[in-house]
Amino acid sequence: MRIVLLGSPGSGKGTQASCIEKEFGIPHISTGDIFRDNISRNTAIGAEAKKFIERGLLVPDSLTVSIVESRLLEEDCNEGFLLDGFPRNIAQAEALDKDLEKMGKKLDAVVNLEVSAETIIERMAGRRICSDCGESYNLCFLKPAADGICDKCGGKLYIREDDKPETVMNRLNVYKNQTFPLIDYYKGKGILISVNGEQPADKVYGDICRVLERFK
Ligand code: AP5
Ligand code: MG
Repeated sequence: MRIVLLGSPGSGKGTQASCIEKEFGIPHISTGDIFRDNISRNTAIGAEAKKFIERGLLVPDSLTVSIVESRLLEEDCNEGFLLDGFPRNIAQAEALDKDLEKMGKKLDAVVNLEVSAETIIERMAGRRICSDCGESYNLCFLKPAADGICDKCGGKLYIREDDKPETVMNRLNVYKNQTFPLIDYYKGKGILISVNGEQPADKVYGDICRVLERFK
C-alpha cells in the first residue's frame, strides 16, 4: 500500500501516521521528522534544513526530493509506505510520480485531512513533543497524564521550535500557496480521498481505516 497523507501543518498527519504504520505495517516517512533528526545530530543536511525550517519555509526541493528518493529505495518500502509531509508542492509531486514510474509502482491513495484554520492554530499552540520518543501531545486535546512528561517513556515534553506564533503564520501561508494546489493535482489523478480531520483523533483514524481497507 503506497499512501500520501496530505494536510495543513497541525492537521494531524503525524498523529494519524503513527497509528496507520502500526495497523497496516508500512513505514511512516515524515520529511519533517527526518530533518529534525538531522538537526539534532548536527549533520550537514540538518544545518541546511534548519535555515528554512526556523523561518517556516520549505527546504529546497533538490535536497528534499533526494532524501525521499533514497529512503524509498530502502528494503522496508518494498511492500509500501506512508509519506507524511511529502510532497509539499507540485514539483515534488511530479518528482515522486517519476520516481515511482521508474520503479514500476504508483500511489494507491492520497488521504487529505480537512481541518479549519482556527482549529489548526489552536492545535499548534498546544502541541508538546516527547524529547525521547517523539510522541505528540496536546494541552487541549491529548493531554499527558502528568504535566510535561511522556506517558509512553517518561521523557520530557518540549515545544517544537517552529510552533512559535510568527513561524506558524509563515507555515500556514506556505501551505496555502504551495501545498494546497496538490488537492486538485491528486483529484485530477482520481486518487484523492478527503477525511474530516476536525473530529477527535480516534474518529479520524476510524474514517481513514475504512477508506484504506480496500488497499490492504
Ligand atoms: P512537518 O514536520 O511535516 O510539519 P507540518 O507539515 O507543518 O505538520 P506538523 O508536523 O506541524 O503537523 P501534523 O499534521 O503532523 O499534526 P500533528 O499530528 O503533530 O514539517 C516541518 C518543516 O520541515 C516544514 O515547515 C518545512 O520547513 C520542512 N519540510 C518538511 N517536509 C518538507 C518538504 N516535503 N519539502 C520542503 N520542506 C519540508 O498534530 C498537531 C497537534 O494537534 C498535536 O498536538 C496533536 O496532539 C494534536 N492533534 C492531532 N490530531 C488531533 C485531533 N484529531 N483532535 C485534536 N487534536 C489533535
Ligand atoms: Mg507532523
